Amino acid sequence: MYGMVNKALQSLITQEHGEEAWESIKNEASVGVHHFVSNDGYPDEVTYKLLRAACKLLNEDSTELLFSFGRHWVLNTARLEYGHLLSSGGMDLRSFLLYLPNLHTRIKLIFPHLVPPHFTCTEVQEHSLRLHYRSHREGLAPFVTGLLDGLGELYGTPVRVQHEAVRGMASDHDVFYVEWDTPAA
Ligand code: HEM
Repeated sequence: MYGMVNKALQSLITQEHGEEAWESIKNEASVGVHHFVSNDGYPDEVTYKLLRAACKLLNEDSTELLFSFGRHWVLNTARLEYGHLLSSGGMDLRSFLLYLPNLHTRIKLIFPHLVPPHFTCTEVQEHSLRLHYRSHREGLAPFVTGLLDGLGELYGTPVRVQHEAVRGMASDHDVFYVEWDTPAA
């Protein structure tokens, strides 16, 4: 994955637990990289090792950590560093969710080595939809729940997310039922 992902994890950990915690996590994960470079590619295994080490040393469950990471990605990394890509998604939460299937296609124009997730929306209503998530990577569904929660906060439209179908359990992909209220005026 692009280094921006590992950098975002670093930013979450240092913000919440300090620099030393991040250094210990890198040591525990045996990742000998001093500084991740946003636009360089790293094996996915580096990210997974960092996530596993973080769970162990911070005594956090992986679902919890991935959820926080998803929120942090939207509210910090994407908002502050890739705001131009984020704002192309529309003026409100509903428009953004409908744009999500195309978001990474656009990102791939700038980051050509991207191996993106795939999203589709079905049963689209005024205040709800079903979001289908497919990826060749494993175990990142709680990251998606956190991303959706962060998007709700970003647009001032809190969301309720139900992980309705779990990949590997009678389904070949993850399905989230996403519901939201009218945004506060
Ligand atoms: C404009 C901001 C965004 C940028 C620049 C961005 C970029 C990236 C990058 C670089 C990766 C790693 C994949 C790779 O390097 O091959 C990634 C993965 C991912 N992105 Fe985004 N992304 C953005 C916003 C979002 C949003 C809003 C969502 C909301 C659902 C999202 C969902 C995901 C997921 C779930 C993955 C994990 C990879 C996988 O499932 O295979 N991204 N994105």
